[in-house]
Amino acid sequence: MVKLNTCVFISGKGSNLRRLILNSNKYNFPIKIKLVVCNNKNAEGLKLAKKWSIPCFILNKKQGLSDNRMLIKLKSYKIDLILLAGYMKILSKRFIRSFGKSIINIHPSLLPKFKGLNTFERILKKKEKKTGCTVHFVNEKLDDGKIILRKFFYLDKKDNVTSIKRKTQNLEYNAFSEAIIRVTR
Ligand code: GAR
Repeated sequence: MVKLNTCVFISGKGSNLRRLILNSNKYNFPIKIKLVVCNNKNAEGLKLAKKWSIPCFILNKKQGLSDNRMLIKLKSYKIDLILLAGYMKILSKRFIRSFGKSIINIHPSLLPKFKGLNTFERILKKKEKKTGCTVHFVNEKLDDGKIILRKFFYLDKKDNVTSIKRKTQNLEYNAFSEAIIRVTR
């Protein structure tokens, strides 16, 4: 099977990255993770990339400003698809336009609700009945592109930020991979 050369962008723990690596190692999963980009040199997720010998490109503050360097790097790895798996920095419009291929993001709410940061706190405050995660294409607006799929669960009276995060992330792992299969079919 021809797999899409993929780069995963992370900023933190990398639990989504972990699942993506495990799935991409399966024969019939449609992506190959060629590169990990991270804007935080202390991110736990970098250990996962190291464990599976995936090259990493770490952006320091200065390099973070340089879209050109990143584009050159992506080109050198022949990247066809970017996955944002907990990347907590906004990509510039210029970068998105210049890359010109698909970029897919996972967001911990049922978009278009609760775009941006601190989603779980806001979900609790708004006393939502249900929440979940969304996988969507990235466009030039924040958390706004075409939705590929959403998964949800009903909130419990006892839920707090920690439990909502855990339940949301448990949905995310399958959602991300299912969305990738859906768009590459
Ligand atoms: C995920 O829950 C993802 O939805 C969220 O960051 C977490 C990363 O966890 N992304 C955003 O909030 C983007 N706006 P991970 O590093 O363990 O995969």
